[in-house]
Amino acid sequence: MTINLAIFLSGRGSNFEALQSAIQRGDLKAKITLVASNSADAIGLKTATGLSIPTAVFDRKQFSQGSDYSDYIFNQLAEHNVDAIALAGYLKKIPPFVVRHYRNRILNIHPALLPKFGGKGMYGINVHRAVIEAGEIETGVTIHFVNEEYDEGEVILQAKAPVYPTDTPEILAARVLKIEHDTYWRGVQKFIDDRKS
Ligand code: GRF
Repeated sequence: MTINLAIFLSGRGSNFEALQSAIQRGDLKAKITLVASNSADAIGLKTATGLSIPTAVFDRKQFSQGSDYSDYIFNQLAEHNVDAIALAGYLKKIPPFVVRHYRNRILNIHPALLPKFGGKGMYGINVHRAVIEAGEIETGVTIHFVNEEYDEGEVILQAKAPVYPTDTPEILAARVLKIEHDTYWRGVQKFIDDRKS
């Protein structure tokens, strides 16, 4: 079975590219039918356009009512026959109405071993800085479902990475990012396989 996937991103979108590569290799049985961002300037949107994948911008400021904003997102997802959503560095909260409708069908990637180093403010380099400051010898990647709380949905898959005493947050971030690229597609494929059974 192949599912239609929407990607939500806010920045460079390297995880989106890794998912698209896994699809092209035949490792991930999915089709990306929509790439959406809260920011019209996100590099990931340009990458999507280059690949002829439809894009959308979800800008809360363009809507006077919160419900109009949720409806717009919802209608875009329906228009592109989206079965599941993969967040890939998406920095905005998903409206509760959308979370409810796509419950257990929204996945996220987090660059640490949740439940450690998750929650508000734990994104980007902050995560890796906190891991080093805590003196951890191991960190990693978590693929999990998204619910109404930041980083608290059920875990689908984790992969580990070592932390070395000489690591800076930037060095650690680069090591973890490589693992992210090889883990996200496995998590999405596991989600697809688990849905079948
Ligand atoms: C990744 O580190 C991911 O774990 C986190 O945001 C970052 C996005 O990077 N949620 P990219 O835009 O996929 O390159």
